[in-house]
Amino acid sequence: MIPLLTAEQMRRMDAYTIGSVGLPGALLMETAGRGVFDCLWAEFEAARRGPVAVVCGRGNNGGDGFVVARCLHNRGVAVTAYLLGNREGVSPGGDARLHLDAYCNSGGRLVEVEEAGGLAAVEIAGAALVVDAVLGTGLRREVGGLAAAAIGWIEAAPGPVVSVDLPSGVCADTGRVWGRAVSADRTVTFGFPKRGHYLFPGAARCGDVRVVDIGIPGDILHHMPADLFLFGEADRSPLPLLPADAHKGSCGHVVVIGGGPGKAGAPGLAAWAALRSGAGLATVAWPRGLRGENRLPLEVMTLPLTGAGDAEDQWDPRAWNAVEGALGGSDAVVIGPGMGTGTGAQEMLGRVLGSTGAPAVVDADALSLLAAGPELAGSKGRDRVLTPHPGEAARLLRTDATTVQADRIGAVNELARRFQSTVVLKGAGTLVACPGEATCLLAVGNPGMATAGAGDVLSGVIGALLARGMAPLEAARTGVLLHGAAGDRAAEQHGEGGLVAGDLVVALPATLRRFSRPRPVSRTDRSPVSPASSAPRGARPAVPGSDRE
Ligand SMILES: NC(=O)c1ccc[n+]([C@@H]2O[C@H](COP(=O)([O-])OP(=O)(O)OC[C@H]3O[C@@H](n4cnc5c(N)ncnc54)[C@H](OP(=O)(O)O)[C@@H]3O)[C@@H](O)[C@H]2O)c1
Repeated sequence: MIPLLTAEQMRRMDAYTIGSVGLPGALLMETAGRGVFDCLWAEFEAARRGPVAVVCGRGNNGGDGFVVARCLHNRGVAVTAYLLGNREGVSPGGDARLHLDAYCNSGGRLVEVEEAGGLAAVEIAGAALVVDAVLGTGLRREVGGLAAAAIGWIEAAPGPVVSVDLPSGVCADTGRVWGRAVSADRTVTFGFPKRGHYLFPGAARCGDVRVVDIGIPGDILHHMPADLFLFGEADRSPLPLLPADAHKGSCGHVVVIGGGPGKAGAPGLAAWAALRSGAGLATVAWPRGLRGENRLPLEVMTLPLTGAGDAEDQWDPRAWNAVEGALGGSDAVVIGPGMGTGTGAQEMLGRVLGSTGAPAVVDADALSLLAAGPELAGSKGRDRVLTPHPGEAARLLRTDATTVQADRIGAVNELARRFQSTVVLKGAGTLVACPGEATCLLAVGNPGMATAGAGDVLSGVIGALLARGMAPLEAARTGVLLHGAAGDRAAEQHGEGGLVAGDLVVALPATLRRFSRPRPVSRTDRSPVSPASSAPRGARPAVPGSDRE
């Protein structure tokens, strides 16, 4: 897992490398700037052609920029460094000043920009490539003054833009765009990526992110542990293969409790997704008479409950015995999709969470019910996965969605702490937290997945992984990856624009196959077989669209 640092964590690592390892700050800056130059030289023809504009602030981000400018100048490229302010404004004796002076002493062209407008804006707009070294991790407030004007000039330039450390205007800690920000084609950062490279909206401004080694010791995380990690496909454990003698009862039974007037599709999608994620059996428990049963996939079983059918609050306490029976035969429960938030639903949620021994995914309306009555969560938090979107998270935290989005990491950690459960905070840059475990960001999926029912599919995927024996945290992380990868696969086929939740379900089996351990070659597989009948004796026929295909 790759750590995602705050500006302060990075500052302490730099200070440790300078103070305890003994590498001078000016050397780190040289290495950082050369790393950016190497990227330009290798990846951008425009950098070799020139002219290149390097726009530098007065801090250390600008200092990195002067190194880039010197490297380009030494290669004979027509390059100009635009300093926002004058030379005297760059701290004498500091690393940035040393590299500003070295650039000028090498014969590099410097333009001191003391007011908005004029020649600098015109020249930057005419550059073949712009290097943005205005603001990095030192951004602490709304961008103003010359920096704001410079961001406008960089944005107006038609050529590629490469940002040093962070696109100017993006907050390293939150990904917030602080008033105005550069949109880069490439961002070259140092040591470790920062949170702002992966948290939206800043993440959308970074382009491709490259990380350059500037000499920070490899074991530094032992002294200075990180508390947020990027969790990618390389970090997941492979899904267990179904055993050769598997039967439907041994592959996990997911019971989905949900559905209501106009919302019959929600639990249906969750159950279908559970089957497509490897569960052997899936049952939807919903109020009898709900319109929509005939639209369920044939493979999904139903448990029609005593209830008031299409009435607003259709969950009837008399249905409890039937639900209890179903829970007894389940390996995982998904509760909430389309369930409604009436008092009957509330009572059902309390009973289910209070009684079942099976791990549970708590989603959608069940989360709104929990927000109104946190005591319904009962005491088995560790076996639960809560999957709120920002609106549901806001209800659970008694705040608003804007506040949650402004500090998604704080929100997911607080929910995990309050409910002592694994929590998946959905949205662009999904976060997974669990008490006592590293919080992870999973940068998967695409905007096309912002479609009705995609959340129901995710709850079904996680439900299936729980039913197949994964621990809640592992099921949550793997489920988010599987769901995102299925979304990407579906978008490749259909485009992002018209993606619907059912497309994700259809894409799940092939994605699941990619996530599974390869099946070892068995003795039978190796024995000679006639081409006409290549299936080993006793082997089950491949099921189209399944991971046994
Ligand atoms: N040794 C190394 O190589 C090394 C180590 C650490 C960092 N770095 C580089 O240096 C960067 C951090 O350097 P830094 O701490 O000096 O910060 P910085 O990112 O360079 O920003 C500080 C400068 O930006 C100005 N500024 C800050 N917020 C502003 C705003 N909202 N509007 C307009 N101007 C604003 C500050 O002006 P005021 O003074 O007026 O606030 C100051 O001149 C990193 O991102 C990295 O690129 C290099």
